[in-house]
Amino acid sequence: MTARGTAAELIRKKRDGGLLSDAAISELVAGIVDGSVTDPQIAAFAMAVFFRGMTRAECASLTRAMTRSGTVLDWPNAGGPILDKHSTGGVGDKVSLILAPVVAACGGLVPMISGRGLGHTGGTLDKLSSIPGYDVAPDLMRFRAAVSEAGCAIVGQTADLAPADRRLYAIRDVTATVDSIPLITASILSKKLAAGLDALVMDVKVGSGAFATSLEAAIDLTQSLLAVAQGAGLRASALLTDMGQVLGHHVGNALEMREAIDVLTGGRRDVRLHTVTSALTSELLVLGGLARDGVAAAAAVEKALGSGAAAERFARMVTALGGPTDIVECPDRHLARAPIELAAVPDVAGVLARVDARALGLIVVELGGGRRRVEDSIDPAVGLAEVCGVGEVVDRDRPIAIVHARSAADAEAAAIRLREAVTVGDEPGAASASPVLRRMAI
Ligand code: URA
Repeated sequence: MTARGTAAELIRKKRDGGLLSDAAISELVAGIVDGSVTDPQIAAFAMAVFFRGMTRAECASLTRAMTRSGTVLDWPNAGGPILDKHSTGGVGDKVSLILAPVVAACGGLVPMISGRGLGHTGGTLDKLSSIPGYDVAPDLMRFRAAVSEAGCAIVGQTADLAPADRRLYAIRDVTATVDSIPLITASILSKKLAAGLDALVMDVKVGSGAFATSLEAAIDLTQSLLAVAQGAGLRASALLTDMGQVLGHHVGNALEMREAIDVLTGGRRDVRLHTVTSALTSELLVLGGLARDGVAAAAAVEKALGSGAAAERFARMVTALGGPTDIVECPDRHLARAPIELAAVPDVAGVLARVDARALGLIVVELGGGRRRVEDSIDPAVGLAEVCGVGEVVDRDRPIAIVHARSAADAEAAAIRLREAVTVGDEPGAASASPVLRRMAI
């Protein structure tokens, strides 16, 4: 593609609401990878799509071209279905850390390509980076060896997997064009298709801590993801789950890692976290043909957790990727702990009526546990522990959360923001509704 010629014509066409052919989109994506399409042209294309949208056929073409823009993995003689989960991102979302080893213990293979934290949402890779030595960017040989050894490996996007998405995403991130349904669809699915999956379950989050704050927005995105996945021959279904409050007790990288290990080893179990994890894992086991139906799948999940088989898979994955061999037995030996812990008590005692989950995510970013820019480094130790859920009583003895911080000043500032991010009422707590709001499939 010549930078001045065809790319400009294609952008003009989309800008004016025209339809792009499969060949034109392929050519554009090839130009994104070989550098003949410039950054301003990519930005203009993304903005044109943001305003004009894409038909399903155009979105499918973009997904296909981006999938083929780099290596497409295959898994010969895998000995089980190749399965994965994708989450649109939330606060305290540590589901992948539990789901992947559970699926592996049930006979699936999970080569999970995960992302870093984005804005207020945490990233699975950042959580895994809190384990000293864990290699989140292995070469393909080590990645394959880890999947074969443990049945699961959670790593970052490699340079040769969907490279067109890598460049396009970086430009979208700084041009306010991330939240476009066709661009999100192509971005997510191109990486999943390039990983050579047999089936995918999607966790589309809804609420104050999610990118989709309304059910309608989440449904639109899910319909697009499911239609394009089906067109590409990928078995997929989706659960829309509540992100109106933190998932689980802790937010922050090492804290969430501790919580996930606790769940895997049969320690404390948060009901909402378990409900979401079990539902997504069950969905995936059925999609992958590893369980007859939802009931059998839920029983398999309980068995994998209760028997220690999932914990063992997790330990094998960590070891295969360079982490310590005893992370499951002795997490505190390896996971960082912040020097300051401060109980954030409410101004008045009462019942927690509302939580701004996004604000909580941003408090963790402020503490140093997330990034404002891609190049920022992260403090794995900081975060919010024992975060109360909606309907729970809070008072002087039952704080909203315990702030884990690097300094007393950071902790005080976080406690003030935390009090502002919740509403405390005097109504007794209502029984909590299921966090699984809806299942969608085609
Ligand atoms: N996650 C992705 O991988 N891509 C997007 O566009 C948005 C979220």
